[in-house]
Amino acid sequence: MQITTHIAFHYGNLKLYNHPPSTKLLRQRFCLPLVSLRTRRSPVVRKMFFSMAFTLTNTLIILASLMLVVISKGILEERRKRRNIEKNVSENGESGLIEPPSPRKLPIIGHLHLLGGYEVPYQAFSALGEKFGKIVKLQLGGVKCIVVNGEKNVREALVTKGSHFDSRPNFERYQQLFDGNKENSLAFCDWSETQKVRRDMLRVHTFPRAFTNNFFALENIISIETKNMLSQITPEANTDLKPIIAKNCANIFLSHFCSKSFDVQDERFVKTIENFDEIFFEVNQGYVADFLPFLTPLLKKNMERMKCLTHEIRQFVEDEIIEKRFDEFDSESEPADYVEGLIKYVKKDNADFDWNTALFALEDIIGGHAAVSNFLTQVFAFLVKEPHVQKKIQEEIDENVGKNKTVTIGDRNVMPYTEATIFEAVRMIASPIVPRVANRDSSINGYKIEKGSVIFMNNYELNISEELWDQPTKFKPERFLKNGNLVKPDHFLPFGGGRRSCLGYRMVQLISFGVIGGFLQNFTILPADKESYKIQVGSLALKKDTFKFKFVKR
Ligand code: HEM
Repeated sequence: MQITTHIAFHYGNLKLYNHPPSTKLLRQRFCLPLVSLRTRRSPVVRKMFFSMAFTLTNTLIILASLMLVVISKGILEERRKRRNIEKNVSENGESGLIEPPSPRKLPIIGHLHLLGGYEVPYQAFSALGEKFGKIVKLQLGGVKCIVVNGEKNVREALVTKGSHFDSRPNFERYQQLFDGNKENSLAFCDWSETQKVRRDMLRVHTFPRAFTNNFFALENIISIETKNMLSQITPEANTDLKPIIAKNCANIFLSHFCSKSFDVQDERFVKTIENFDEIFFEVNQGYVADFLPFLTPLLKKNMERMKCLTHEIRQFVEDEIIEKRFDEFDSESEPADYVEGLIKYVKKDNADFDWNTALFALEDIIGGHAAVSNFLTQVFAFLVKEPHVQKKIQEEIDENVGKNKTVTIGDRNVMPYTEATIFEAVRMIASPIVPRVANRDSSINGYKIEKGSVIFMNNYELNISEELWDQPTKFKPERFLKNGNLVKPDHFLPFGGGRRSCLGYRMVQLISFGVIGGFLQNFTILPADKESYKIQVGSLALKKDTFKFKFVKR
C-alpha cells in the first residue's frame, strides 16, 4: 500500500500525516481559493477538481514548508555565527577575531587541488575570494596559508601590520639555493637586523636621488649600454633580443654597483649571465614539493644543477669582480661603490654580517639585472602587438628629445606616456608579491591569522580585476595618465609595500625608460617571422629561448 506522506507546517512545528487532511481544514488554515469547487458539476468532474485541488494545495504546502525550513535554518546559522563572534570578543578582548572561511580539504594535499586548472594559482585565489570572502584560509599540503584579496586587506598586511607579516616562507628549495640557509638571501630571508642593514646599504644605490652624482653616473651608464645594445641589432633580421638585453643590463648593474663591466663576447661573462637567468627562472617557479616536502627528492637533480650554477657565479664574482679589492680597500676611505660599502661594513667591529653574507647580497642585487631583462623582453612583446603605442612613444621622443640627442633617464619628466607604458606592462604581467609569513598571531580585516601562516597577497586580482580597471585585458598606457601627468592608482601595488617592498623598482623604471627610449628613437619593432607573442600572465620570468623581433630603422 502506498502511503502518501504530507508535510504541513502547523504552529511552528513540523508534523507528519499519513493521510491527506480535509479540504475544509486546509481552507481554514491556508485560505485556499476553493470557491470554484462549490459550483454544481458532475460527480466525476467534482472528484477531479477535488483531486487537483489536493495536489495543488499539497504542493504549495510543501513549498511553503521547505521555505520556512530554509529560512529558519539561515536564522539559526546567523545566530550561531553571532554567538561565535561574541565568544571570540570575550576571549580575545576587543579584537573579536573570527576564523577565516576555509573550503573543505582533502587528506595530505589539503587544498592543493583547488589551485589546479588555472593559468596561474592567483586566478584560483580570486575565485576562492569570490566564493568564500576576501580572506580565505587554506591548507596547502603541510603548510597553513592565508589568501588575502582586496586592496584594503593587502595594505593592512603589507603596511599597517607590515611588522607582523615580514617573514618569508621556509621552503626547502630556498634553503638549498642559498648554501643551506635562506637567511643569506635578500628576498627570501626573514626580517632581522641584518636585513635592515642590508636594505639601508642598498637603498642609496637602487634609489638614486635625481640630480645627485649617483643619478648622473647611472644616467651615463644606461646611455652607454643602450648604445651598445643598439649596435648589436642587425636591421630587419630576426633578432633574439633577450640575450642582448641581458648582457647589457648586467653591465649596467655591474658598472653601477661594482664599477666593472665586461665585453659581451667574454665567454665566462656570457655563461655567468646565462646562469643568473636560469636561477631567476627557477626562483620564480612554484613547486608542489614546496608544500609537500616528502616530494623534494624529486627535485634533487634540478637542485644539484642550481647549486652548480650558484657556485659558478660565486667563482666569477670572486675572480672577476672582487679580485684584490677586499684586501686592498683602506677602511678609512669613503666607499666608491656598493662593493666597497660592503667591504667597509664587514671590516668594522661589531658588523651584523660577515663577508660571505655580503657576497650573497652582492650576487642577489647583480641578479636583479635578470628581472629587468626578462621584464624588458616582455615590454617589447607588448609593443610589437601594439604599433599605435610604439607610434605614440616615438611622437613623444620626437617632440621632447628630437633625433639628434640621445634619450636619457633625465627625460622622464617630459615623457609621461613612455613612463605609463612601463606601468601598463608591469600591470599586465601581474607578477606575484613574494609570499610573506606571519611572525606572530595577528589579524587581517578582523580575521584571525595564526603565527607561521604563509600569506599570499592577491596582486593578480589588484592588477586585472574588472572592478578596478576599465578593460583590464587591453594594453592601454593612457589609464596611467591624467591631464598629461603620470598617475598611479592606490590599488596598483606591483612592487609590494612596507618594510619588505621591492628594492629594485626604481632601477626597473630607469633602465626600462632608457632602453625603450633608445630603441624606439632608432627603430620600429616588428614581429619576427613565424613568431607569436603570448605573454604568460603572472610571471616575470621567461624561458631562455623566447620571443624574436625584427627592428626596422626609422
Ligand atoms: C619588473 C620587475 C620587478 C618586479 C615586478 C618586482 C616585484 C617585487 C615584489 C612584488 C617584491 C616583494 C615585495 C613585498 O614583499 O612587499 C619584490 C622584492 C624584492 N625585489 Fe623586486 N621586482 C622587480 C625587479 C627588481 C629588481 C630589478 C631588483 C634589484 C635591483 C629587485 C630587488 C628586489 C629585492 C631585493 C626584493 C626583496 C626585498 C625584501 O624582501 O626585503 N626587484 N620585488
